[in-house]
Amino acid sequence: MSEIDDSDSEARYDRLIERAATILADNHTGLFTKPSAGQYPHQWNWDSAFIAVGLGHIDRRRAFDELRTLLRAQWANGMVPHILYPHGASNYFPTPEFWQTRGAPGGPPIETSGFTQPPLVASAVRRLYERADDEEAAAFAREVYPSLLAWHRWLHGARDPDGTGLIAIIHPWESGTDNSTRFAAPLERLGEVAAPPYSRQDQHFVKPGERPEAGDYDRFMYLIGRYRAQRWDDETVYREAPFLVQDVLFNSLVYRDERDLRVLAERLGEPVAEIDGWLAAAASAFDRRLWHESAGLYYDWDVRAGRAIEESTCAALMPLYAGVADADKAGRLVRHQLLDPGRYAPGEGSRYFLPSVSKSSPYFEPRRYWRGPIWLNINWLLISGLREYGYLEEAAAIRRDTIELVERSGFVEYYDPRDGSPCGAAGFSWSAALLIDLLMEKN
Ligand code: DGY
Repeated sequence: MSEIDDSDSEARYDRLIERAATILADNHTGLFTKPSAGQYPHQWNWDSAFIAVGLGHIDRRRAFDELRTLLRAQWANGMVPHILYPHGASNYFPTPEFWQTRGAPGGPPIETSGFTQPPLVASAVRRLYERADDEEAAAFAREVYPSLLAWHRWLHGARDPDGTGLIAIIHPWESGTDNSTRFAAPLERLGEVAAPPYSRQDQHFVKPGERPEAGDYDRFMYLIGRYRAQRWDDETVYREAPFLVQDVLFNSLVYRDERDLRVLAERLGEPVAEIDGWLAAAASAFDRRLWHESAGLYYDWDVRAGRAIEESTCAALMPLYAGVADADKAGRLVRHQLLDPGRYAPGEGSRYFLPSVSKSSPYFEPRRYWRGPIWLNINWLLISGLREYGYLEEAAAIRRDTIELVERSGFVEYYDPRDGSPCGAAGFSWSAALLIDLLMEKN
């Protein structure tokens, strides 16, 4: 690049960072950052971890506070919930009254949803710590470490009581990729369901064609209704959950979070044997249960049906972020999935990395929530994983696409992979935060 090009892109990037910082400021409530002002006016678990990573570059104290607010809602049993309502209810549905988690055994200190989301907080704390490596960052790591450990203990105790090495989720929303096509089969298996009465509020700010379909939403609500009738009791819920899936994405994020938790433990002088046990058990279960040699990718395992969910989505690539795939498996994922224009690579019906579902899937829908659109957090996770495995050109290509998408369509919730046009909610916090990270990190 010439000097002129360099200063050109520097000015462009500075403008993007400024716009991103404005979104994060606008969405800040004083206690936490809303994912987006209209559509998601409360605090979401994995959103806050992504947001903290971006905030770390521009306002570290706010990053710490974002995570403090999240962890203050930790349940007595160790679970860190997926939605928190620190300011009470709003017109967002499900409301706290719908979840009915108040008074649940081992339950929350404030109003929250009844289950969790992929853990990324140890990873975020490690980044914040290593970026600064000063006394304040060390003190923050020391402050939150016990909560992070308790959350992972809860995951293994409540969601893998049989010691398989893999965590099972009880609801598609726990995966963070709420409406993914990989949950279509286990949801269809529920058949006709009787959901408790409810009134959907998610189609005021986002077009219905970009949100989940009515039948799926019914099943989401039906599952919540079942678990709340069991008063969110871990043992009963796990034993009777009609939806129980060992999700590749969830387990990849758990694995990476535990790798990062282990680094924190070492730096803080805490014991690591328990974490090593989790990592070893998960690594062998990824190979044994989730990897499919003939297909050359990882599939979710439907615990209730006792079989793999043979659907290729962005989840299949997340073991690259985890660092749990050996070099051979990583190479197959990159060559035969990521770089195949019939599946994930640009060409054959898409222009940008990375559709959230393989274009070859019969369920692929380029504008519907988690059924095909591009998400910035998935691109960011993948870039990080590819770099670790040494796929630097592929990581750089996804980074370029990600920046171009934002320049073209702004900081929205997701993007149509055919032309990069905006979908979902506007002014989306993690898109802003993660773009800041991509532009400000040392490459
Ligand atoms: C929603 O309301 O769709 C949220 O994604 C739930 O987490």
